[in-house]
Amino acid sequence: MSEIITVIAPVNIAVIKYWGKRDEDLILPLNDSVSATLDTNIMCAKTSVCARPEFKEDGIWLNGKKESFYSPRLQNCLREIKARAAAEKSVTEDFLQWKVHVCSENNFPTAAGLASSAAGYACLVTALAKLYKVKSDVSSIARLGSGSACRSVYGGFVRWHAGTNTDGSDSVATQIADQTHWPEMQALILVAGDTKKKTSSTVGMRIAVETSELLKHRIKYCVPQRTEEIIQAIKERDFSKFAEITMKDSNQFHAVCLDSYPPCVYMTDVSHLVSYVIHKYNEISGSIKVAYTFDAGPNACLYLLEKDVPQVISLIRHIFPSSNPDKFVTGLQSKEEAL
Ligand code: DP6
Repeated sequence: MSEIITVIAPVNIAVIKYWGKRDEDLILPLNDSVSATLDTNIMCAKTSVCARPEFKEDGIWLNGKKESFYSPRLQNCLREIKARAAAEKSVTEDFLQWKVHVCSENNFPTAAGLASSAAGYACLVTALAKLYKVKSDVSSIARLGSGSACRSVYGGFVRWHAGTNTDGSDSVATQIADQTHWPEMQALILVAGDTKKKTSSTVGMRIAVETSELLKHRIKYCVPQRTEEIIQAIKERDFSKFAEITMKDSNQFHAVCLDSYPPCVYMTDVSHLVSYVIHKYNEISGSIKVAYTFDAGPNACLYLLEKDVPQVISLIRHIFPSSNPDKFVTGLQSKEEAL
């Protein structure tokens, strides 16, 4: 009988977005992406795993509901973990034959465009790696579950290198800087809706790759330069540069979604109001104090410096009187605490 292994994983919110794959099975992206990993205090995934000889089949429960274990992504992750364990001889042959049970929970809306798959798969893969005592880097296995998950394996600021190898061996996440590098950096999550998105990221990306001319332009002419510039801005702690690139990249990502045929619409009127208010606030402030970014959903992630948090919270409360923005402020996750 194995012990029960429980792991908590952080979400990450991209500032240079991953959108489009060069290989759908191995989940290899067309472009590099950059994200910040948020502290687990407001949003995280929690997963427990164990393997036992008496289990008749592999099983997974998500937020208390039994789901099918036979999703290709889940199967790929488990197969790769077991292959590594066999290669590393980290567990016995018998142990590798036992079936595994997985229980996973999110404390934030699933599939509403809030990085739930990133935290979920990062958590699952790390828990399995601990169960099977796998020592090698797990970011490439997390990537097999959901592309963005490979960035949640590290704390602070993280880059996912698209790579060029067909086997994906160079498509890995690396840390740009840990959270101590820019301790004033905060993220504020504005939940504008928690219903499941109409088009999943996977399908939305596929349509964009097949139909969007703007995506081709973005990948060739915009992302490479932006990636280098935002890494520079992070290294120099240049907030206004960081914020400008973050907002431009979010806007371009959603423009690609609209340029897809049929179009994918993830932002709502509330999301557009948030974007408008942030631009007005920055204009009145005389410098860029806040950046917004939207993933494949209506919710905003605002990046801002600690000194500006109180004023921005009162602004949000003023515009959305029923909101509770102070509950959704967080710093970045540290390297030590990340998976
Ligand atoms: C908009 O990682 O969820 O959040 O690899 O198909 O599972 P799959 O997609 P996923 O896509 C995330 C897209 C994004 C941008 C980002 O996080 O970089």
